[in-house]
Amino acid sequence: MSERRERIDKHSLSGHSPDEGGFMTPHVLVTGAASGIGAAVAALLAADGWTVTGVDLREAALRASLDGLATPATPLVADLAEPDAAERVVRRAWESVGPLDALVNAAGIYPARPFLELDARLWDQVQAVNVRAPMLAIRAFAELAVAADRPGSVVNISSGAALRARPGAAHYSTSKAALEMLTKAAAIELGGAGIRVNAVSPGFVTVDSTANPVTEEYAAAVSANPLGRRGRPGDIAAAVAWLLTPAAEWVTGSIMRVDGGASAGTTTLPAHWPELTDVQTPGINEGAAL
Ligand SMILES: NC(=O)c1ccc[n+]([C@@H]2O[C@H](COP(=O)([O-])OP(=O)(O)OC[C@H]3O[C@@H](n4cnc5c(N)ncnc54)[C@H](O)[C@@H]3O)[C@@H](O)[C@H]2O)c1
Repeated sequence: MSERRERIDKHSLSGHSPDEGGFMTPHVLVTGAASGIGAAVAALLAADGWTVTGVDLREAALRASLDGLATPATPLVADLAEPDAAERVVRRAWESVGPLDALVNAAGIYPARPFLELDARLWDQVQAVNVRAPMLAIRAFAELAVAADRPGSVVNISSGAALRARPGAAHYSTSKAALEMLTKAAAIELGGAGIRVNAVSPGFVTVDSTANPVTEEYAAAVSANPLGRRGRPGDIAAAVAWLLTPAAEWVTGSIMRVDGGASAGTTTLPAHWPELTDVQTPGINEGAAL
C-alpha cells in the first residue's frame, strides 16, 4: 500500500467510492490536463492513488496524457473560455465519476502581445480562461461539496507574472494577479465549510507546449533564479499534491511560490562595490588584507 493510500485511509473523507481493491479513493478534477503542469499534476495524483478526471480543450492530447496514468482517468473535453463550461465539467465529473474531493485549476493561456497592440477580444479571452473559469469551477465545486456536507480542497496555478510585470504580458499578469486574489477571497468565504483554497505560483517551467509556445529568448529572460535551473512540471505537481494532503489541513488562502527562489529577489546585481563602501563606512575595508 502506498504511503499516500495509507494517509487517505487514515483520514478517510466520507463518501469515497471503493476502488477495485476495496480502498477508498479520493477524486480530483484537473483542468489543463493534456500537457505541461496539468498533465504532471494528473500523473502524480494518479500515482498517489487519486481518481483523476482531466479537462482540456485538446481531445487527442488529453486522451494521450490520461491514457498512461497509474489509475484509470476520465477525459472531459471542454473550452473553458465558454461561460458555462467550467460549471458543466465540475457537475459532469461529480455526477458521472463520483463526488469530488479536490479541484486543480491548471488550464491557462499566455499569448504574448505588446501593450499597444492589446485589444478587447484577447484581453477577454485571457481573463476568461485564466481567472473566470477557475472562479466558476470553484463555485460549482463548493456548491456541490456544501450540499453534500463534504470537505474539499482547491489549488489554482498562478504565475510569477502576478507579482512582476513583463513586456507583452499585461493581460496575462493581470489575470494571474486576479487569480491570486480570487484564491484568498474564496478561501475566506469557504473555510467555514471545510473547503481550502490555495495557489501554487510557478517560476519558468519547461513544458514545450504547443498550446502555449514560447521562444528560447523569452525562456532565458524569465528563467533567472537562485537555484540556477529551470523548473520542471514535477516540481509544481509535488507542491500541488502536498497542498491536497491532510498534512496541509491548516493551510488556506496561501500562495506557494515554487520558482527556484526567483520571487525572493534578484541575482543579477553584484554583491558589493568596495569603493562605495569606503565612502559610506570609512575604514571598514582597512582590515581586509589580514
Ligand atoms: N510553464 C510555465 O513556465 C508556467 C509558469 C507559471 C505559470 N504557468 C501556468 O501553468 C498553467 C499550465 O500551463 P503550462 O505551462 O503547463 O502550459 P500548457 O500549454 O502545457 O498547458 C495548458 C493547458 O491548458 C489547456 N487550455 C488552454 N486553453 C484552454 C481552454 N480554453 N479550455 C480548456 N483547456 C485549455 C491547453 O490545451 C493546455 O493543455 C497555466 O495556468 C500557466 O499560466 C506556467
